[in-house]
Amino acid sequence: MGGVERFGVSMNAELLAAFDQRIAEAGYSNRSAAIRDVIQDYLTEAEVREPEALVVGTVMIVYDHTVWQLEDRLVQVQHDHLHAIRCTTHVHLDGHQCVEAVILTGTAAEVTAAAERLIGARGVRHGKLVMSKV
Ligand code: NI
Repeated sequence: MGGVERFGVSMNAELLAAFDQRIAEAGYSNRSAAIRDVIQDYLTEAEVREPEALVVGTVMIVYDHTVWQLEDRLVQVQHDHLHAIRCTTHVHLDGHQCVEAVILTGTAAEVTAAAERLIGARGVRHGKLVMSKV
């Protein structure tokens, strides 16, 4: 890792004010730390778009467990991708809604394929995959 460099950034005052407000709400003590995180996230997103990149991913899905055969289909997806799936956590949210968090490792292509099957299962109300390079 190289030394620290300083650089100037020009931007619209309104955009900067909105950024300052948002990072203050998020608890950042200064712009530099927030900008570093934004840049790291931008670079990570590009890295994990490479299909052969080795990644760790977390998929979160929210669903209604009373949808016919949905839980069976979600379990089957996890068996189909058993080499990628490292753990699954399930929490019952109310009388019928559940959230499941699945942690996977493997190539970006494998992790994305498994995540898309989970998120795309009929009855999954909301799902999201977050990946980071290993
Ligand atoms: Ni449940």
